[in-house]
Amino acid sequence: MEKLESNDVIAEVRRKLDIVQVISEYLPLVQKGKNFFGVCPFHDDTNPSMSVSREKQIYRCFSCGASGNVFTFVQEYEHITFKEALSQLANKAGVVLKNVTYQKKNDRYEKFYEIYSVSHKYYLNNLQTNLGREAKKYLHNRKIDDAMIKEFGIGLSLDTSNDLVQLLEKKGYNLAELNEIGLANKNYDLYNSRIMFPLKDLSGRIVGFSGRRYDGVKENKYVNTKGTPIFQKGNVLYNYYEAREYVRRKNQVILMEGFMAAIRSITVGIKNVVSLMGTAMTKEQVNLLKRLSLNIVLCFDGDGPGRQATLTNGDELERQGFQVRVVELSDGLDPDDYILKYGSESFSSLIENAIRYQDFKIKALKENVNLNSEEEVSNYINRVLIETSKIDDEIRRELILKSLAKEFNIGYNTLEKRLSTYLEKELPKKKENKDFVIKIPQKKHNKYELAEWHLLYYMLMVASVRNQFEQGKFNFSTEQERFLASEIIYYYRLYGTVTPADFYTYLQDKKELLELLDHVLALEVEEVEEKTIDEYIRVVRENSVNLEINRLTKMIEEKNDPLEKARIAERIRKLKMGSE
Ligand code: UTP
Ligand code: MN
Repeated sequence: MEKLESNDVIAEVRRKLDIVQVISEYLPLVQKGKNFFGVCPFHDDTNPSMSVSREKQIYRCFSCGASGNVFTFVQEYEHITFKEALSQLANKAGVVLKNVTYQKKNDRYEKFYEIYSVSHKYYLNNLQTNLGREAKKYLHNRKIDDAMIKEFGIGLSLDTSNDLVQLLEKKGYNLAELNEIGLANKNYDLYNSRIMFPLKDLSGRIVGFSGRRYDGVKENKYVNTKGTPIFQKGNVLYNYYEAREYVRRKNQVILMEGFMAAIRSITVGIKNVVSLMGTAMTKEQVNLLKRLSLNIVLCFDGDGPGRQATLTNGDELERQGFQVRVVELSDGLDPDDYILKYGSESFSSLIENAIRYQDFKIKALKENVNLNSEEEVSNYINRVLIETSKIDDEIRRELILKSLAKEFNIGYNTLEKRLSTYLEKELPKKKENKDFVIKIPQKKHNKYELAEWHLLYYMLMVASVRNQFEQGKFNFSTEQERFLASEIIYYYRLYGTVTPADFYTYLQDKKELLELLDHVLALEVEEVEEKTIDEYIRVVRENSVNLEINRLTKMIEEKNDPLEKARIAERIRKLKMGSE
């Protein structure tokens, strides 16, 4: 049996942390009234549906129902176990855990992470040996110095055919596993003579590699880990884990095409950057970006494919509610080349002055338009007007209309009229995206259910309500509710106090109760007044009586013995009079 931390320690960790603070390290939160709101990371959310309560120290998504305390958030977000979340958060809170838990060796994934960690050390070491001289020279030539090699964990695979496989087999891992996780091909090493860049998952664990040739040959420049149970290229962004903190500070994320670009940018101090890995942006990646920030700067390569990618991704990101800006690099340079050529200050200023996506798009539309073809010109003007209609700023819209009118010698009014039809079409979309509307669906529950939930809520907060329950002054109509009530009483006896957020952790294995607890904690309960409590108790008792009368009435119908029937009828009469 593994030892568990005591509930006291768990509660101490939780109390030392503010859930609003912790969650905002993962995603942007905006305060509205008492609560904070953010885009829910647990479903395909566009509007902020997740509310975080500082007072209750819990979160809850109105849309998908995800809910819990600071532990469950970190657990679900990072796909880790409770104990892992606890140890992470204890660290953050400065609480020392007594039973430091070691990761279970029997977990299949844990083994894969382990293999990656061993392989990474092996690659790191290779680069520092004599056999790594050429590769080091190549890196230094590219202005990747030893500090960067260390920071980004850059290593080297050798040109031997199966050194790594042998090493790993000696350590007890089997060939099938090594094939499955993309380190071996049959009984050979998958990577030979490549500079190895580690790739990490969302929690910063190494789960793959990208290996670059350094012999000058252009073919198969990079070889990446293929899809494995712990790594899918399209499900991650390079530098995601490290970027979170910087993105939060800047409230902006920079997206690049390749990871060399990101590495260079990070090295010169621009750290709120993530990159794709040479593939089209996937839906999962868009969701990851959403978790980071809705303010995005696209900084793709300054060549044809880079521009095309800017347009495709810009459109999609806009549709998904991002505020998109664009940095255009010239002469086919990528951010890495640009920084090496023009320096980091020049690059920073490009980022600072990134243009709005619509402006970029309007400029792009003009390329390849045959100005002698009326059809093409009119087509072009229409597309510009459509883009213009997405611009929120009246002055900027007017400026665009004026320059179009002048350039093509068209009446300003004609353009304005056409624009207004596009504006009308855009209006509903804008509303949707813009006003951070937080719609809290008000589900209808019947008054008895609501009264019972309120009493459960009060049982968490108010001793006198717990007492009344224990004295049998009221009872609940469902088994779940009774179970929850008895857990509250039990927890209270054990710890002397009940905090909703700690109670969550206590109940973590009782899923059915958690669901009920969610309903209870979602109630917006104002001040506690005795009057209100008494009223809820009255309603709940009324319900109990009604239910009992129904039960007895059914019983009468089933009974044959007239005496028994009479006895039951008498009980019903008493119940109706309120004397039982
Ligand atoms: P680039 O060709 O722009 O590479 O590909 P780069 O980032 O400039 O790298 P260097 O400077 O040549 O070393 C961008 C991304 O496309 C993926 C890689 O993930 C790279 O970061 N890619 C590229 C591959 O997967 N395979 C390749 O053969 C080439
Ligand atoms: Mn490059």
